Amino acid sequence: SAPQPRAADLLAWYDRHRRVLPWRALPGERADPYRVWVSEIMLQQTTIAAVKPYFERFMARFPTVEALAAAPSESVMQAWAGLGYYSRARNLHACAKAVAHEHGGRFPDTEEGLRALPGIGAYTSGAVAAIAFDRPAVAVDGNVERVITRLFAIEDEMPAAKPLIRERVLALLPHARPGDFAQALMDLGATICTPRSPACGLCPWREPCQARIAGTQESFPRKAAK
Ligand code: ADE
Repeated sequence: SAPQPRAADLLAWYDRHRRVLPWRALPGERADPYRVWVSEIMLQQTTIAAVKPYFERFMARFPTVEALAAAPSESVMQAWAGLGYYSRARNLHACAKAVAHEHGGRFPDTEEGLRALPGIGAYTSGAVAAIAFDRPAVAVDGNVERVITRLFAIEDEMPAAKPLIRERVLALLPHARPGDFAQALMDLGATICTPRSPACGLCPWREPCQARIAGTQESFPRKAAK
């Protein structure tokens, strides 16, 4: 029978293949919560390639959460122009003001504290808690849904499978390095466990992967017939 997937195998893969991204801390360094938060909001409906130049310009213009909070909204909207989904920019500005004025310029360091801020939902609070504060939190995006439904051959259709996916990620979550674990899951989904023709031969979880064993990788995640 197949072995159980282990977080350690994913983390060892991440140590060799981690992508260098402008908001990501170097190994052993602490990520800046402000940069992590801005990147996660930008990445919600936009690809990494498209986000990178916007992110760099945004950081040059608003280097701290206080700078963003103090900026006129026209200037924030102008820096966002081109990324689309402008409600994200309005929420971003409202959140920066809340952090600057109600939290002394420091992001709350727990999932619950982050979740109470404007524009921060389950995904973003989990991502920032894990990546910026190394809290044992999960951040499930489309990439992670694909990895987990394949790994456990979860037959439930999306979005009904979401609670089970979350449960499975929580069960895999390591005590050490939860931030790297969150990013490793995202990177695995983006680079190996792709929607079409996944590179299973290069996957650290190829042995425990139930979909690979059955040869059904591309049929996950299951979607309701249209
Ligand atoms: N997609 C969204 N957030 C990401 C992150 N922190 N790393 C890689 N891909 C991502």
